[in-house]
Amino acid sequence: MLVAVSLHAAGAAAQTQEPVELVDQQHCMFCHTSDAPFLAPSFHQIAQRYRDQPNASTMLEEKLRHGGKVHWGDMSMPLPADRGGPLSAEDARTLVQWVLSQ
Ligand code: HEC
Repeated sequence: MLVAVSLHAAGAAAQTQEPVELVDQQHCMFCHTSDAPFLAPSFHQIAQRYRDQPNASTMLEEKLRHGGKVHWGDMSMPLPADRGGPLSAEDARTLVQWVLSQ
């Protein structure tokens, strides 16, 4: 897990700044890394997939807060309550903007 976090930091040059507290509180890096698929698709893959889809960020914000259809395999992402606590719409937006900038 620590390796994943430092890999992420290394590639951070042109990105939206990482919302560190939110990411920690929601344990995003427990399953995701910036650029290596691990327990979950990497944020880089996710950004590639959705970058050109106009409504993607709204869909992803919804999904981060309330769950939804699985898009990458059989494992779904746990809901906020199981990740560390409730997630406001504003925080979901911050996280999605950050993911899509990677
Ligand atoms: C317990 C493991 C786990 C944690 C913690 C986790 N994720 Fe995920 N995430 C997954 C898995 C597995 C998928 C693929 C699920 C799917 O196909 O929809 C995923 C998918 C995603 C997607 C793409 C969804 C889609 O519909 O394509 C985004 C964006 C995302 N995660 C962001 C985050 C963020 C931001 C956090 C922290 C708030 C986070 N994840 C925390 C496991 C996790």
